[in-house]
Amino acid sequence: ASKYTAFPPIALSDRRWPSQTITRAPIWMSSDLRDGNQALFEPMNAERKMRMFRTLCAVGFKEIEVGFPSASQTDFDFVRTLIEGKHIPDDVTIEVLAPARGELIRRTVESLKGARRAIVHIYNATSKPFREVVFGLSKAEIVGMAVSSVKLVRELCDAQPDTEWMLEYSPEHFTGTELDYALEICDAVTEAWGATPARKVILNLPTTVEMATPNVYADQIEWMHRHLARRDSVILSLHPHNDRGTAVAAAEMALMAGADRVEGCLFGNGERTGNVDLVTLALNLYTQGVDPKLDFSDINSVARTFEYCTQLPIHPRHPYVGDLVFTAFSGSHQDAIRKGFAVQQQDATWDMPYLPIDPADLGRSYDSVIRVNSQSGKGGVAYLLETEYGITMSRRLQVEFSGEVQRHTDTHGGEMEAADIWNLFSATYLETT
Ligand code: KIV
Ligand code: ZN
Repeated sequence: ASKYTAFPPIALSDRRWPSQTITRAPIWMSSDLRDGNQALFEPMNAERKMRMFRTLCAVGFKEIEVGFPSASQTDFDFVRTLIEGKHIPDDVTIEVLAPARGELIRRTVESLKGARRAIVHIYNATSKPFREVVFGLSKAEIVGMAVSSVKLVRELCDAQPDTEWMLEYSPEHFTGTELDYALEICDAVTEAWGATPARKVILNLPTTVEMATPNVYADQIEWMHRHLARRDSVILSLHPHNDRGTAVAAAEMALMAGADRVEGCLFGNGERTGNVDLVTLALNLYTQGVDPKLDFSDINSVARTFEYCTQLPIHPRHPYVGDLVFTAFSGSHQDAIRKGFAVQQQDATWDMPYLPIDPADLGRSYDSVIRVNSQSGKGGVAYLLETEYGITMSRRLQVEFSGEVQRHTDTHGGEMEAADIWNLFSATYLETT
């Protein structure tokens, strides 16, 4: 049983139905080594790629897009190293991306030779501006490209029966594509792959560039979910980007609208403003009492690996992982948290003021919860002296000493660590008596 519960657990008084919630984890696909990697100033070298791959496996990703082998020799070689070096755990499936073009598909399938299991991910441009302006192709020609590419993948895969193959298809910029046309092409791909309930096709519907509020994406996904000709033979996948800053919300709403799978990157890395942040998405589920089936119990080490591999810093206020997210500077917050910790029982339902998650669940400690600066009140000061130095102050002393702390921080500025507070406390009360 989880110590977290979905919020709010009530139906609104003037509505007879409760708010929808997500009740199980989606299938996760990490694109850190593809969409994330292609968006870096300096794409990862082989050593960084391997380190990221191992971390993704350790976190629990079972599907990992490891590169774009027809576009990059580094990616091709990395796929070969993974396969030949037997670095892929038995329960992990690697995935590679390829455009819907014959020679590039051949090179892509070649990179996968000898894999136990693999997902070949084919995409082509389907939205109106791409069709008309970028490629000058008709709707029928675009469908023809997708179908002939899928048939080629099928033929190449059938020639390598020792590998368990899956197909993924993405109509690029799904959210900018007329829905009935997106449906037509997705149904045609499903048919061409010969998908059945036992041999599903992954249909991945990206917001290549996020351009609308999250409910619009959810509506588009729901429409596809309801209209796909062979829904029972399809894994319906999301691929939100974060151009409007709402990728997490879009993914959550689209999961409620019927999707099965989500593609994204750790800490929201990816093109422009990033892909959807899989850490936030997973931990949002966790704090609603749903097992995300990803392990972030040592989030600091995942963050360190991420920063090393991508050479990008994580923002100090990034949900769940940022340096400051378990830190309360304001006095009233500190006081409430101190009282919360005093009554919170181990494994009881988590009900802590200002902290949506127990820092210990992420391998982070309570020590950093209370920090003291000129905005802090007596609660934080009292908490630090009690937990770090075993000093329990009377209420009168708390008020008096926090005045001293405030004078000190007003004069000297900045933040006081527990040791600084202790030094001030001893200088004020112990050394003078
Ligand atoms: O954002 C996108 O559309 C993509 C596709 C290749 C899936 O990354
Ligand atoms: Zn993308």
